[in-house]
Amino acid sequence: MAKILLGVTGSIAAYRACDIARELMREGHSVQAVLTRAATRLISPDTFAALTGNPVVVDVFDEPVPGQIAHIRLAQEADLALIAPATAHTIARLALGLADDMLTTLALATRAPILIAPAMNPAMWSHPATQAHVATLRERGVVFIEPAYGIMACGDEGWGKLADTPTIVQAVALHLRHASDLQGVHVLITAGPTYEPIDPVRFVGNRSSGKMGYALAEAALAHGATVTLITGPTALTPPAGATVIRVQTAQQMYEAVQAHFDACDVFIAAAAVADYRPERALPRKRKRTGEAWTLRLVPNPDILASVAARKGDRFVVGFAAETDKALQHAQAKLSGKNLDLIAANNVLEPGSGFEVDTNRLTLLYADGRIEELPLMSKRACAERIIEVVAEHLRQRRGA
Ligand code: PMT
Repeated sequence: MAKILLGVTGSIAAYRACDIARELMREGHSVQAVLTRAATRLISPDTFAALTGNPVVVDVFDEPVPGQIAHIRLAQEADLALIAPATAHTIARLALGLADDMLTTLALATRAPILIAPAMNPAMWSHPATQAHVATLRERGVVFIEPAYGIMACGDEGWGKLADTPTIVQAVALHLRHASDLQGVHVLITAGPTYEPIDPVRFVGNRSSGKMGYALAEAALAHGATVTLITGPTALTPPAGATVIRVQTAQQMYEAVQAHFDACDVFIAAAAVADYRPERALPRKRKRTGEAWTLRLVPNPDILASVAARKGDRFVVGFAAETDKALQHAQAKLSGKNLDLIAANNVLEPGSGFEVDTNRLTLLYADGRIEELPLMSKRACAERIIEVVAEHLRQRRGA
């Protein structure tokens, strides 16, 4: 039983939101309808009030409960926000972060997952502006329930019809299950690069931005996990809710992982750990002499291998950053480091690997299965890995 905010916008399909509200309530959820001003021209707020038993809100200053600020209370109480149907205009406002009515204000104020079921003319849906807004929202973790193909009210045919009610209700059910399937599970994640000091101003490092590891932390949090993120130096803001441990060097990351590994159920090593460090870090900046300079590098500990060797029943995931023969090298790391899963990425491929927002991963499982993922956002890659983790834990529990 969840508290669902149902946003209804000014599409011809607004009347279908009544059906959606009824089905959600039949599933045991409580529904709070929030209409845009345009939606009220197509369907009366009183219909939703009668159906849901809750007063409907439209304007930011609507205060159904005296003394309580509705847009904060409703935003905090919601377990999930569903906007169905969502027009191109509302999708654009959400992507821009506008807060010019109750629905968009709630969407900004809530930390509940947001699902959007668009409904609009096919030309509007496929327009690059709409697709750019959809991509922006997806990047932020918003889930889209794809519109269906069909004939529109205007007579045009194509993709743009509001998905059917069972599809929408099923997406909500699936999402609510996801939102709690890692409840009580402690996920430990490494992210970003390590910096190995040469002297107080120089270091040996690599191009990792931390985006892949932070996306994993976000996805694990979205599934209800307790997340500890051990991060090398990055310019990113860590996801809210994660316990963050900042380190600089591989040795510091090694010590942090050793300290937290026993308490975790799942370990994911997405960090690009420097395999070597300068043998000695100079205490003062080395002056330029014009002479050649030879740095002697010594190996760093293999963090992942060291903990995976004593993993017990923990699920351990590694990454393999490769420039050639990716599958062969990843396979060797999977078995050599005693992993349950390894995600291989070819860091030379455009759109994949370091710094960029996207990645193309191949997942290699300990039982020999191989799953090729398409080029997609790091958040979507992370979601798939976390789904695999959740599925593994479900099977282990025999559910
Ligand atoms: O941070 P981004 O800019 O988003 O880039 C993402 C990424 C390319 C860094 C990420 O997708 C990735 O591939 N991370 C692993 C990088 C890496 O170090 O790969 P590797 O093949 O060298 O190492 C194999 C595994 O052992 C990795 O899980 C790594 O974290 C771990 N390792 C490696 C060396 C070491 N000394 N200790 C380790 O734990």
